[in-house]
Formats: sequence, C-alpha cells, structure tokens
Amino acid sequence: MLDAKSHGGAVRIEIVNDPAAELREAVNVELRTFNREQNPAWYAARAATENDAQPLHIFAFSPGGQVCGGLFAETQFHWLKISILAVNSALRGHGIGTRLVQQAEATALARGCRYAYLDTMEYQAPIFYQRLGYQIAGTLPDWDSHGHAKFFLTKKLASMMLV
Ligand SMILES: CC(C)(COP(=O)(O)OP(=O)(O)OC[C@H]1O[C@@H](n2cnc3c(N)ncnc32)[C@H](O)[C@@H]1OP(=O)(O)O)[C@@H](O)C(=O)NCCC(=O)NCCS
Repeated sequence: MLDAKSHGGAVRIEIVNDPAAELREAVNVELRTFNREQNPAWYAARAATENDAQPLHIFAFSPGGQVCGGLFAETQFHWLKISILAVNSALRGHGIGTRLVQQAEATALARGCRYAYLDTMEYQAPIFYQRLGYQIAGTLPDWDSHGHAKFFLTKKLASMMLV
C-alpha cells in the first residue's frame, strides 16, 4: 500500500495486458476526483439532465426526397461540435454544405451556444470552413501517419448576432 512517505523509486511501473475493470477504475477514480476538485461547478452543471449534450442531425433532401447531404453535430453548454458533414458528390459546389453549416450554427445559437468546433483533414474541407469564418486553432501534422495533417477549427458564433 502506498503512503505519503513512499519514494517514487520504490514504485513498480508495469504494462498490464487486458487490465480488469477494478484495476482501471483505481486510476480513473484518481482523475475523476482531481477533476471534480478543480472544477466543481462544471461537474455539478453537467450532472443536470438539462445540460446533456443535445444531438443535432440536419439533412439535405433532393426535390425527389432523397438524402443528398447532411450534418451531424451536438450542442452542449456554449459549444456546437460538428462531427460529420458530407454532400453528395454530384451536388457539391452549389451551396448545400454552406446551408447545412449555417443551419447548424443558427440552431446552436438558439440553443445558447457561443462557439463552434470541428476537426477536418487537410484533404477534406479546411478551406471550406475558413471561408465560413472558422479559424484554425491547432494543427497535427502527419495525423494519419501518411503525411496528412488534421486541423482543429473554431468559430465564435455569438459575434454573428452583432451582424
Ligand atoms: C465539404 C463539403 C461538405 C462542402 O459542401 P458543398 O455543398 O460542396 O459546399 P458549398 O457549395 O456550400 O461550398 C461553398 C464554397 O466552398 C468551396 N468548397 C466546397 N468544398 C470545399 C473544399 N472541400 N475545399 C475547398 N473549397 C471548398 C465551394 O467551391 C464554394 O466556393 P464558391 O463559393 O467560390 O463557389 C463537400 O465538398 C463534401 O461533401 N466534401 C467531401 C466530404 C468532406 O470533406 N466533408 C467534410 C468533412 S470535415
């Protein structure tokens, strides 16, 4: 058993394959306890069901009723997190992606969000999002281990209300 006088050097560091749930929980509880001590207000707020993450699924339908695009996201507290966006390849470049993002942002604002967040690979849509006012908040070069960067982008939604 560890006590406060234990020297770090006396501690054994070991890789455990397929650790039991109890073993993992012994570590998880340390982090949970620490986090709750550091940020009690946020953890208390998150425990309230009215603050659960709210899913947001927006679809684009063709005049014939077929799905030709969509955006999947969620909102929680002040953040819109966009996870999926795609438009049918034959219909790209006609403003559908822009309308999907704008609808997501408007809905997020109505739900009380102030910011949007997403990540995208360099071969996906960083330019598209930047044209919509998103700014690169971080870059991970070689994210896929095949030479392609991942970009993290954010946008302040609240400023839209000033326009
Ligand atoms: C990214 C995507 C959703 C954009 O949808 P879209 O309907 O083509 O977008 P829009 O027509 O509203 O585009 C607005 C402008 O951005 C440009 N644009 C669109 N996608 C772009 C991209 N991937 N890179 C750079 N510019 C892009 C358009 O050419 C258009 O320019 P214009 O105003 O000069 O005509 C669509 O291209 C797509 O499904 N791409 C493949 C999947 C993907 O990368 N998804 C994003 C994952 S994070």
